[in-house]
Amino acid sequence: MTLQIRSKDTVADGVVSLTLARPDGERLPDWTPGSHIDLVLPDGTVRQYSLCGDRWDAHRYRIAVLRESAGRGGSAYVHDRFTPGDLVGVGGPRNNFPLVPADRYLFIAGGIGITPLLPMIRQADLMGIDWQLLYGGRTRGSMAFAEELAQAHGGRVRLVPQEECGMLDLASWLNEPASGTKVYCCGPAPLLTAVEEACAAWPPHHLRTERFAAAAQAAPVRRAPFEVELRRTGATVTVTPDVSVLQAVRRAGAEVLSSCEQGTCGTCLTPVLEGTPDHRDTLLAAHERAANDCMFPCVSRSCDDRLVLDL
Ligand code: FES
Repeated sequence: MTLQIRSKDTVADGVVSLTLARPDGERLPDWTPGSHIDLVLPDGTVRQYSLCGDRWDAHRYRIAVLRESAGRGGSAYVHDRFTPGDLVGVGGPRNNFPLVPADRYLFIAGGIGITPLLPMIRQADLMGIDWQLLYGGRTRGSMAFAEELAQAHGGRVRLVPQEECGMLDLASWLNEPASGTKVYCCGPAPLLTAVEEACAAWPPHHLRTERFAAAAQAAPVRRAPFEVELRRTGATVTVTPDVSVLQAVRRAGAEVLSSCEQGTCGTCLTPVLEGTPDHRDTLLAAHERAANDCMFPCVSRSCDDRLVLDL
C-alpha cells in the first residue's frame, strides 16, 4: 500500500507518532492487537513498527517511532525527513504477537515496547478482563503514553522511570506463577532476557515476548553445507555457510517474500516438510520450534544434511 502521513506528533522525548491513511480515504486492512506494519523508506530500506492506535478505526493506522541514535538510520529518517502529506510504502499488517485468551494479563513494557501493548490493553478493557501494566523507561519524559495510561487506568498501571525508581522489580511481580495469567512483554533485549529468566518456573506458553531486534545467537549447529529441496519445483540447492537459505532458494527460482531479513518480522515464514531446521529467529516459541514444521529462511539453517521446504 501507499499511505499518506496525516499527522506527526512528538509524544515523548525522542518519540514521534505518525498517523497514516490512504490518500483516497478508503478503509485500511483490519488488524489485531500485537500487529506491526512494514514502513518502506524512500531508499528502499524496510522497518517494522507496531500498530498502537485504535484497531476499530478502519481509516487510520498509528505508529510511534523512537529515534535510535545507534540504529541503522530508519528511525532518524522518520524523525528528520517525514512530514505530514508525504507518501510512504507500507506492508502488512502482520501479527507475530497475538493476544491469546486468558483470565488475566500482566503487560510488561520497556520504553518504546509500550506500543504493541496499547491495543492489547484496550482489548482487555473491552472484554472486561483483568490486567496490570508494569512500564519502565529511562526517564518519565521518555515514556510515551505513560501519563495518559496512568490517568485512564489508575492503579492498574505501575510507571517505573529508572531515574526516580530504579529498575523494574521483576522478581516481586513474577516470582510466583499465577494460574490463568498470561505475561506479555516487549522492550529491549536485556528486559526480555530478565523477564524470561524470572518466568522460568511458569507453565509453558504463559510468557509471550516481542523483540525489536535479532537476539544474540549461538553458532550454527552445523558449519558444513547442506541441501535444500524445493518440493514444489523439484529443484535442490546447496546452501554453503556464506549464504542464507533465503538467498539460496531465491537463486533456485523460489519466490519468498522478505522484509527484515533478521528473523524478527515473520514475513519469510516457510513450511518445512522434512528435516530439522536450526531455528535462529526471535519469533517462534519453544513448542513451535520443537514442531519443526516451519522456519524463517532469512536466518534459520539446517541441523541435518537435508531440508525439504514447501516451495
Ligand atoms: Fe523477517 Fe525473515 S524476513 S523474519
